[in-house]
Amino acid sequence: MAAERRFPDGFLWGCATAAHQVEGGNHGSDWWQFEQRGGILTGDSADPACDMYHRFRDDFALLRRLRNNAHRLSIEWARVEPRPGEFDPAEIQHYRDVLTALRDEGMAPLVTLHHFSSPTWFSDRGGWAASGAPRAWLPFVRRVAVELGDLVALWCTLNEPSIYAYQGWLGGEFPPGRRGDVRGLIRVLANLRRAHEAAYRELGRLTPGVPVGIAQHRWLMLPATSRLRDRFAASTAGFFMDRWPVGWGRWGRVVEAPADYVGLNHYSGSLVAFDIRRPAEGFTRRFNPPGLPVTDFGWAVEPRWLRTCLDELRPLGRPIYVTENGMAVAADARRVQFLPAALEQVWEAIRDGADVRGYFHWSSHDNFEWAHGYSMRFGLVAVDLATQERTVKPSGWLYARIAEANALPAGD
Ligand code: FCB
Repeated sequence: MAAERRFPDGFLWGCATAAHQVEGGNHGSDWWQFEQRGGILTGDSADPACDMYHRFRDDFALLRRLRNNAHRLSIEWARVEPRPGEFDPAEIQHYRDVLTALRDEGMAPLVTLHHFSSPTWFSDRGGWAASGAPRAWLPFVRRVAVELGDLVALWCTLNEPSIYAYQGWLGGEFPPGRRGDVRGLIRVLANLRRAHEAAYRELGRLTPGVPVGIAQHRWLMLPATSRLRDRFAASTAGFFMDRWPVGWGRWGRVVEAPADYVGLNHYSGSLVAFDIRRPAEGFTRRFNPPGLPVTDFGWAVEPRWLRTCLDELRPLGRPIYVTENGMAVAADARRVQFLPAALEQVWEAIRDGADVRGYFHWSSHDNFEWAHGYSMRFGLVAVDLATQERTVKPSGWLYARIAEANALPAGD
């Protein structure tokens, strides 16, 4: 039987959410507009989602009972700045109340400043593809820093810039729903890079001492065989998922952007084989490793991949937070198996020298999974959409035991 595996003192145990996915009533955002245009594949509505805009106090009290000592959430730009340059004092006060409630519960707030949703006044002007986009976002960043910075433990500038750009401009699953717009994609990535760098500087100036990072998605692309052409296919498939333009003709890794810590969002990966018949997919065929279980999303489950991702980040020499990790399964028994297995990988990465300071499970509550509506359940807590009643799942209680012990139980 394995000995108890303890995490470092002060390790952050939390869950991650995004405003549009949990709050409800976010009518000023491009996601709401996208929903009205029929963009949600399931026909579900993000209003009222989990109604957390109104229920945050009870929800935070519940997460505290689940021994969370931190929480990741995003501040909704469309609420705080409903018209360009016009800030809504009532919404700023609302988020002060939210962050104060977290502090009162003893949970450290990790605050994301852009998690996939933008105000319609911004998206109507071309959104992140338009020149001047970073300049349009920065007043919001500054205002939030000045008004809320004293309550924030960690800043996260952007959530998953690569996924955001791909889904919005190549795959069409996110607003603005463009497909195959490679030039748009590159403009978006270039603007997000500039926006992150400027926000990093501004936050450092306005809230010195509050670490600033970025949350980047890592979908592992593994060569299907050891053949050179498959290894080449896997590395090119990964290239554009992990990089953004950093200057004329140069692409740099997102995780190497200036930051005080790096945030890792990891869920799954694919095997990649070279395939001459698929020019549209970059001459690659991507598939799940045979034999691995898959989630309701069809994503392969392999907890050891989390370790691979953490090991990749170690040479950066920066603190690491797992800013998202989890699985979409209606059958919670599978999450109960997965959770300690994933956390064991985090523990091993720390043992081998990775400076991992916290883990944020995606997600606290079953919520609005973007274009897939409520069909994908990632939560430790179930939400009855008709009554808004919350029920802690067995995985939620398990997470509580681990967080309270700050350790994985012996023998698990
Ligand atoms: C990530 C997003 C998050 C959630 C999970 C399942 O890409 O950051 O909002 O949708 O996937």
